[in-house]
Amino acid sequence: AWWSVAIMASLKRWRTLMKRLMSAEKSDDGLVFSVSWEDGFKARFHAIWLRDNALDPETRSAGNAQRLITLSDIPPDTVIADAAIAADTLSVRFAPENKQVEFPGQWLRDHAYDVSAGRARGWTAPYIAIWDSGFDVANVTGTHETVQHDAIALKDWLAGVRRHGFAKLTGGPVASGALVDVAALFGYVRETNYGKWFEVRTEVNPANLAYTGLGLQAHTDNPYRDPVPTLQILYCLENSAAGGDSQVVDGFAAARRLCAENPHGFELLTRYCARFEYRGTGDVHLASRKPMIELSPDGELTAIRFNNRSTAAITDVPFDDMADYYAAYRRLGEIIDDPAMAVGFKLEPGECFIVDNTRVLHGRTGYADSGGSRWLQGCYADRDGLLSTLSVLEDNTLVNVA
Ligand code: FE2
Repeated sequence: AWWSVAIMASLKRWRTLMKRLMSAEKSDDGLVFSVSWEDGFKARFHAIWLRDNALDPETRSAGNAQRLITLSDIPPDTVIADAAIAADTLSVRFAPENKQVEFPGQWLRDHAYDVSAGRARGWTAPYIAIWDSGFDVANVTGTHETVQHDAIALKDWLAGVRRHGFAKLTGGPVASGALVDVAALFGYVRETNYGKWFEVRTEVNPANLAYTGLGLQAHTDNPYRDPVPTLQILYCLENSAAGGDSQVVDGFAAARRLCAENPHGFELLTRYCARFEYRGTGDVHLASRKPMIELSPDGELTAIRFNNRSTAAITDVPFDDMADYYAAYRRLGEIIDDPAMAVGFKLEPGECFIVDNTRVLHGRTGYADSGGSRWLQGCYADRDGLLSTLSVLEDNTLVNVA
């Protein structure tokens, strides 16, 4: 109704007004600024931080926004000399440079860092949604045709990878190498010693367990690489064998469940490095020393490495902690194997899925190698390229909508 549109519009205008700058007060020594907005939001900023982040064209390139100065170009005794607010913009004069810089109120608000410290260990970024077996694959399933030709469909599909760590694509060509075109939707294949892509099917003399008909415990790929491939695409070309369903498990959900059950064990898996290793039949020997659960220095959950086949002898856990470490390692595996964690689906020829290999584990149920066949191709790619493409698509879609 017209009146609800009118109410929404005035509500939006009111919210925008409430987010306007209200006041800015500098400390007596000029080292700190306290900024308030009309909706009650407050944030403090350091003079040196503001000066370093000045948006003027002498400090930052107008073309690519890269910083043009180093910190040594800014006097260490930088203070705020005076400031004024006009048209929702904070204008600051820095001494001793006597430099005038303007900060839009929204920019300050978007970059406020005056947040309370001490987030719980194992926190995850706000754009991440944790899931378990109740998650419906349909939420992250796109069709080949639409993501190739519709920027909004591609944006939504990539956003699913960012949020849930995996996504599925249906209706692609049943053609060897078609997985490379999936990587090209957002970035580039990462070539490895396995080639630009690798075949996953039964072989008579398997060099790697992935190429046999046995079931595979959910795992992350190639933890013996540093850095690991951050994305994997698995593309189905044949799947007439009984079984062989694909399974994915949210490694962040598993890690958080371990943390809730056994905080000490979680701590051990984050604090000590495991060792991972792969010796190929030829001239390949890959090895890494990384934790199974990786946190950033401020406790953000950033990566899971879990792969029973390529875990080497773990030698970086002190003797007194090894028994507890092994108990935690065992429990993490039990959580990963728990059917309550896994989402399963059967890939049809021309279908594929992509996983964030730093977060989501993949595996498969066993399949019979008589009376049918299963042939997948896999390749690696990198998440930074995917996030870059997604970010650009989001900017462009915003412009289009406005
Ligand atoms: Fe794998």
